[in-house]
Amino acid sequence: MAVLLARNFPQLVFGLWFVVVFQGIIAAVSSRLFYQPRWWIPIHLLFLPAALGLSVLNFPSWVYLLTLLVFALVFWGTVKGDVPLFLSSSAVAEAMISLVKQEHADSFVELGAGVGSVVVPLAKRFLLLNITALERAPLPWLILRCRCRLLSKVIVQNKSLWACDLSNQNLVFAFLSPLFMDQLGEKVRREMRSGSLFVSSSFPVPGWAPESVMLLSDRRKTKLYCYRL
Ligand SMILES: C[S@@+](CC[C@H](N)C(=O)[O-])C[C@H]1O[C@@H](n2cnc3c(N)ncnc32)[C@H](O)[C@@H]1O
Repeated sequence: MAVLLARNFPQLVFGLWFVVVFQGIIAAVSSRLFYQPRWWIPIHLLFLPAALGLSVLNFPSWVYLLTLLVFALVFWGTVKGDVPLFLSSSAVAEAMISLVKQEHADSFVELGAGVGSVVVPLAKRFLLLNITALERAPLPWLILRCRCRLLSKVIVQNKSLWACDLSNQNLVFAFLSPLFMDQLGEKVRREMRSGSLFVSSSFPVPGWAPESVMLLSDRRKTKLYCYRL
């Protein structure tokens, strides 16, 4: 739109910066009109100015290739619509510690463990708890492995959560995406034993009634949905 205006009304002397800022504002306003979540607004506002700013800085092209590679290694499955990496807060880790205590759990699985924001504090607190941490994205998995190298009861696996058998686990934790909760609910119902506990951070399983919901006072005001099988 901004480029069209600049082309059709050159007498208005649109500077390049004006065009990109204007384009960002139009994109941000349109995103609200199409009910995109609010967190898209700064992305729309900053994307073109950032691209223009970087092009002015004249970085060598390998910098962009390297950046792309690092992002691909961190946000591995995102291209295919998978869940990106967001880290749980320490309040979530504390809440999971209290749940392990309350459940007298002897095994714990985290589906998509990221860099270990939950499993590392848990393993340090419960030295005898058998923990399985699944993470598919290469860079978070590598960081997770390094963080868990001295924690003998933690098994870190670089495989998909869909390939993990949940039948022998007392307590399963996931912080994924609303897009997968139906499918994950099916897996949990099929595989987890009666009496065990499934905890989903932030995203409820559609149509399931949680046994309890823990409301945490972290920045995101995280809700932990606890489902008794
Ligand atoms: C929202 S992050 C949560 C990270 C961590 N659980 C935490 O609470 O800090 C979701 C994680 O799940 C991982 N993930 C997504 N799909 C996966 C899959 N199919 N198998 C294993 N991990 C997956 C992502 O790479 C990402 O690290």
